[in-house]
Amino acid sequence: ANNKTFTMIKPDAFADGHTGAILKMIEEAGFKIKAIKTVKLSAEDAGKFYAVHSARPFYGELCAYMSKGPIVAAILEKDNAVADFRTLIGATNPADAAEGTIRKLFAKSLEANAVHGSDSDENAAIEGSFYFSELEKI
Ligand code: CMP
Repeated sequence: ANNKTFTMIKPDAFADGHTGAILKMIEEAGFKIKAIKTVKLSAEDAGKFYAVHSARPFYGELCAYMSKGPIVAAILEKDNAVADFRTLIGATNPADAAEGTIRKLFAKSLEANAVHGSDSDENAAIEGSFYFSELEKI
């Protein structure tokens, strides 16, 4: 299915109270929230989620960061979801993010970059299944 993507609102954005504003931007951009929950990952959980990055030099810090506090995980639906969501959130590094994007507005750093967005349809399905059972995928 090419109409779904997966997102996480990361610890700093959640702790700073930006969840409502971010979800509002997501809905106003035409995405339907198909599943959503607040969770707190262990470093081990984060390591499994980001296993694709296990060889990268920032992997250890990324796993520590993503387990430092609660996050919101959600499955989103829209035509062309993966690409359109990446446009909405902006570049991974907020220094490069376009005006009006979620990361431009709410990211603090490359690590604390407010939100995650899946990079492919295949990863969107894998990442959604990490957090949600079949019953929860309405
Ligand atoms: P995300 O889209 O969640 O995917 C992996 C995360 O690693 C990325 O956002 C960044 O927050 C984080 N990260 C930290 N350092 C780097 C880096 N040098 N290059 C890319 N991503 C990085």
